[in-house]
This record gives sequence, C-alpha cells and structure tokens, in this order.
Amino acid sequence: MKILAIETSCDETAAAVVGDGTNVLSSVVASSQEMYAKYGGIIPEVAAREQVKAIIPVINEALGKAVGATKAKRADTSTFADSVDAIAITYGPGLIGSLLVGVETAKTLSWVWQKPLIKVNHLLAHIYASFLSGTAPKFPFLTLIVSGGHTDLLLMKSHEKYKWLGGTRDDAAGEAFDKAARLLNLGYPGGPAISSAAQDYLQLKKELPQEKIADLEQTTLPRSMIKSGNYDFSFSGLKTALRRELNFLNLSLPSAPSKSSLPEQVYLAYEVQESITDILISKTISAGKEFSISNIVLCGGVSANKVLREKLKEAADKEGLKVFVPDFKYSTDNAAMVGSRAFFAQDFVKPHLLHPDPSLLY
Ligand code: KG4
Ligand code: ZN
Repeated sequence: MKILAIETSCDETAAAVVGDGTNVLSSVVASSQEMYAKYGGIIPEVAAREQVKAIIPVINEALGKAVGATKAKRADTSTFADSVDAIAITYGPGLIGSLLVGVETAKTLSWVWQKPLIKVNHLLAHIYASFLSGTAPKFPFLTLIVSGGHTDLLLMKSHEKYKWLGGTRDDAAGEAFDKAARLLNLGYPGGPAISSAAQDYLQLKKELPQEKIADLEQTTLPRSMIKSGNYDFSFSGLKTALRRELNFLNLSLPSAPSKSSLPEQVYLAYEVQESITDILISKTISAGKEFSISNIVLCGGVSANKVLREKLKEAADKEGLKVFVPDFKYSTDNAAMVGSRAFFAQDFVKPHLLHPDPSLLY
C-alpha cells in the first residue's frame, strides 16, 4: 500500500510517499528556519503563510520523485493520482494555522482523487521514524518522545494500544534547549546550537588551565524531579537557574557559537545539555526496568541530539536494553513518519468529518 503523507503541524511543510509503512519512496521537507533564526523563534501566522506557498510544490516534488519523474520526463496529475492508494495527514497537535493548510489540502486531494484519507497524531507519528530505518522495535516497547512542544514516556503495547506513563509539567525538553540557547545568546533552533557549543566546551577544556576548569565546573544546574519516583518531568527550573547564574556572572555574551565564545558560555551550554539528558535518561531507564521492557524507542526533534543518543545507549546497554533511534533525517519533523504510522494504524476518516486539533494528546 502506497501512502502520500502530508505534515504541516509546526514550521515545516513536508510530503512523502511511503510503501507498506517502511519503504520511503520520497521524502521532501521545506522549512523556513533561516527566517526563524532571524526572529529567534517561530511566528505562527508567518509559518502558515509560508506553508500555503510551499505545500503544492512540496507535494508535487514528493510525488514526482516517487514516480521517477525528471525535468525531461514530467508526470501529469493522473499519474500522480494513480501512484498512491491513500492520503495520510497530521491533524494535531500543532499550530492551528499550519495544521489547517495541510488538513485542507489533504481533504481536497482525497475528494478529487477519490482516495481514502487517514488521520495521524503527530506525536505518535514521531515513534514511527524508527520503523523507517532498518530493524523495527518489537512490541511491547517503551518510547520517549522529546520534541519542541512535548516530553512524554509511553508504553506501546501494540499499534493501537498504549499507555501514557508521564510527561512534562511545564516546558518540553526541546523548549528547554531553545530557551537556554536564547539566554546564552546562541541562536535558534536551540537544540543544535547548545549541542555545538557543548562540543566547543569539550574542545576548549583541553586548552584551559586546571584551575579555570575547576572554577567553571563548580557551577552545576539542577536535575529537577530526577528522583521524583514517577515519570513526570519539569524543565522550567533549569531556565530560571541559568538566568540566575548569568545575572550573577554579568557577562556580555557574544552571539552564536564562534571563536570568541566565552568559556562560561560554552560551559553553561554543556551543563544545560548534561542536565536535560541526565533527567531524560534516568526516567527512561527506570521505566524500562519497572515494566520489564527490552526495547526503547527515542524520537522527536530532540532525538537528533548526539549526546542524548550516546548516553541513552550506554545506560541501556548496562541494563541489557536495546535502543532504537531514527536516522537523523527522520528525527525532526517529516512526512515519512506520518506515512508509516498511517499504514500501521489505519485510522480512516471521511474528509468532511476531519478538522485540525491543535491540542490533541493521546
Ligand atoms: O519534533 P520537532 O522537529 O518539532 C516539534 O514537533 O516540536 O522538534 C523540534 C525541537 C526543537 O526544540 C529543537 O531545538 C530540538 O527539537 N532539536 C534538538 C536538536 N535538534 C533539534 N534538541 C537537541 N539537540 C539537537 N541536536
Ligand atoms: Zn514533531
């Protein structure tokens, strides 16, 4: 079964064609990230307007690639219609304007091409990024979903049955990266910025005198709720602690990681990453042990973080647990994961009954 999947829940405009839930025939992602870097974040209204412009070219490109069209050999619309069996669409959670662009486009295509429509929850779709890269995890498995808006631990019993074990009470893990990067003047999106500054600290550490390292590392940031005995998370205290520390240091921070980055700036970025990853890993491993689960799936935009991947694998190894991580290209928002989830949990819906649900949960 070939599915054309569409994803527009946040700032990306993405389309993909996926065969039988695992075979990615094409995956196209357009993002306006450079523009957001300029403003330091996403402006929902601007995101939706960009998506209106991008959606048709992105779908055309995904279908074109899937049918092997080239500039010389262009495919027409009927070829496209014949090349897929169903249309899948993310209907929530996300930004209302952005979701509307994708949902209305998918509904229209479903009507015009007379193809069934499958609705997909964006958060559950993230899990299926791991079904696109080699060996798939085996049920029951545990999944840590860490994105810009969500941090959740789920016990997946089957494609349809799952249990929410806990989640964040305030900021999401990705949001914590983004806010910390802003405080540290490292730019947007914060995850990759913090990650590269943290790497710079490890490099710099080789050159710094011992006393300076000891002085820097005296400052630690909190690991909130790490020993709370449940699967809830809290990341807003991290931002407050970081702000307090920066106020105390009273430095003038150069923007973006560069040769002129201050040791304090890159050290604090390193400590932010350590704090967030320590908390995520500790809770995930505890849940794996409590529920006697042997497979763990890490997903969502923050799963692109290399330190998180490595530290989780190391901790899981010690407990005999196996970690599944998506290919980097499927960590952040994309439509291929939507096409996979749609195939495995075929949640058909009549086009006129589908509406975006910005606050959809599980
Ligand atoms: O899943 P995603 O692409 O979009 C949402 O559904 O929210 O996640 C975006 C989040 C952002 O907060 C971004 O800073 C974070 O993922 N992220 C990272 C990395 N790459 C993206 N966080 C940590 N390390 C990274 N390398
Ligand atoms: Zn996402």
